[in-house]
Amino acid sequence: MKIAILISGRGSNLQALIDHFGPAITNSPIEIVLVLSNRPDAFGLTRAERAGIPTKTVDHKAFADRAAFDAAMDAEIRAAGAELVVLAGFLRLLTDGFIAGWHNKLVNIHPALLPSFKGLHTHQRALEAGVRFHGCTVHFVRPAMDEGPIIAQAVVPVRPEDDETALGLRVLAAEHRLFPAALRLVAEGKVHVQGEKAVIYDTAFA
Ligand code: GRF
Repeated sequence: MKIAILISGRGSNLQALIDHFGPAITNSPIEIVLVLSNRPDAFGLTRAERAGIPTKTVDHKAFADRAAFDAAMDAEIRAAGAELVVLAGFLRLLTDGFIAGWHNKLVNIHPALLPSFKGLHTHQRALEAGVRFHGCTVHFVRPAMDEGPIIAQAVVPVRPEDDETALGLRVLAAEHRLFPAALRLVAEGKVHVQGEKAVIYDTAFA
């Protein structure tokens, strides 16, 4: 399956995907055909270039509105031949039109156990809420922010001595394991959306 990965920053999740599915990996079920950033200085672009993956920057500041920006991104993604779009730390809200054009073909990773802690600052909010478990979620994207059929989740403990940084690093390590595993299931055709729930016919997360 050909995928495009959208980023805005450091790209540590992108790196995990390159390590699993990049050009150096034989028999990969996934081919990363494009890494697209809305920021020209995103370090993830350097990671992709080092791996020999095509990159593009579509700078949101160059467009009059979100619709024009999304249309420009959509054109690049389709020109690259992508069949699935993966948001890996992409920090712009997408228009309903873009999302509709990639229905059940647009995947995001969120650093919390959805539906808890949508939005930003998830680790600090988890600490303030006093939850004992936290984690991350890979899901199909719907117009409402951080909503959509859940493909997979990973759980980490919250330890008494945790601060935002320590908890965030534990979740990030879980993201780097979860994202490749979840995308592999999608690429292998094992994830089916029924109603608004993603159903996986596989025992990988049992
Ligand atoms: C990750 O925590 C991801 O869950 C969130 O943004 C962060 C991106 O980090 N959506 P990186 O750029 O992959 O290092």
